[in-house]
Amino acid sequence: MEALALERKAEQNRELRERLLQLKKERNAIILAHYYQRDEIQEVADFRGDSFLLAQKAAATDADVIVFCGVHFMGESAKILAPNKTVLVPDERAGCPMADMVNPNGLRELKAKHPDAKVVTYINSSADVKAETDICCTSSNAIKVVNSVDADEIIWCPDKNLGHYVSQFTDKKMIIWEGYCNTHDMLTVKDVVEMRAKHPNAQFVVHPECRPEVVEMADFVGSTTGILKYCKESDCKEFIVGTEDGTGYQLRLDSPDKTFHFASKFLVCPNMKVNNLKKVVRALETMQPEIYVPEDVANKARLSLERMLQVK
Ligand code: 13P
Ligand code: SF4
Repeated sequence: MEALALERKAEQNRELRERLLQLKKERNAIILAHYYQRDEIQEVADFRGDSFLLAQKAAATDADVIVFCGVHFMGESAKILAPNKTVLVPDERAGCPMADMVNPNGLRELKAKHPDAKVVTYINSSADVKAETDICCTSSNAIKVVNSVDADEIIWCPDKNLGHYVSQFTDKKMIIWEGYCNTHDMLTVKDVVEMRAKHPNAQFVVHPECRPEVVEMADFVGSTTGILKYCKESDCKEFIVGTEDGTGYQLRLDSPDKTFHFASKFLVCPNMKVNNLKKVVRALETMQPEIYVPEDVANKARLSLERMLQVK
């Protein structure tokens, strides 16, 4: 951007931040932002986090209004966990293609074929699917959750890459759904080989939503929070990062002296980036778009989320 355009944008954002502060007070609202959100949203959030931390914050808040800056299933999970709160999202078109790869009918059919199996569903799923689920998990607790389940057979959905990764850390038989994240699945072995040649002193850190052959190449495998913690605590000064590029905001904040190279220019989730600061302000002004989950679905889905929150 040209200097003048940058200046204008900075001025606009300053005005938007002031308006947001005022609206937050008027509405008694909190802003939750996933680490994949644009910097301008992460900057104003009351809590930045991964899907697990943000679900915990939604369940525990005493604010009247939650503005959930992430994708649709995250707003839904917040509403399920905090049914008496108003949950707003900046843009209701921010969906998750992986969550859309499984539907309740398909899951019911698979359950009928494996009546002894328990269903573990990644939080990246719709409320309808969670309602058919025994226990949810996120990438930060998936192994713990699977091993906590009282069954030898697990139906795992929807992420086949995370499912493959988890299956290496359990004796349970895992029946794995064929879903995937369009963004993480885009990262290839070739991308990593090329980046390593360019940055020979860098460590490669990766999210387990990436393909198994890419995950195998990593110096560290972890959820978004796991990656952030590892990079912050490591003595290494340079990293090739195999997850969504919004994490750069927190990585640079935690370690301004370290260098982070994203492993591919395609590691950008277009759904997460649909949201911007202007839409966050507009959501609080208009109190729209609001998330609704039918009560019967929410009541069933809540059990699977609450079971996850109880796993220690
Ligand atoms: P986490 O926040 O659990 O790391 O999930 C990654 C993701 O893709 C969220 O959409
Ligand atoms: Fe869905 Fe992948 Fe985007 Fe996360 S990064 S919201 S899993 S498409």
